[in-house]
Amino acid sequence: MNDTSQTETRWYEAVPEGAIPVREGRRVIFKDHQIALFNLGDRFIAVDNRCPHRQGPLADGIIAGHAVFCPLHNWKIGLENGCVLAGGEGKVKVYPTKIANHRVYVAFDSGDVHKGDTLPLQSNVNFKEMLEGDSA
Ligand code: FES
Repeated sequence: MNDTSQTETRWYEAVPEGAIPVREGRRVIFKDHQIALFNLGDRFIAVDNRCPHRQGPLADGIIAGHAVFCPLHNWKIGLENGCVLAGGEGKVKVYPTKIANHRVYVAFDSGDVHKGDTLPLQSNVNFKEMLEGDSA
């Protein structure tokens, strides 16, 4: 069988496991696509780094439980399913994450990230880290 309608999910290395402090988020960039990667302590969660209200940078928000408050107008976004919990309506895309060899990986479907672009075939070292404040 050769079903070409299926999307292919691939894992991409994002950051070292210890790069993001517990209960904080960081922006990571896969080419021109921004992801907000949060360390909840017991796991990492990755969502699009664009609030559904006016595209505020969710990676800079305040984490409360399993939600983040957008830094621009304080909408509350649930991190487990990406749904807006307070402030308005909407949803952000959530990406699977895993930890392997002390590094955090994020999964994308082949159609998620690059419209009209080609995903690299390698499964690592494809994120450009944007870890503001870590070297200060
Ligand atoms: S941009 Fe996020 S609440 Fe307005």
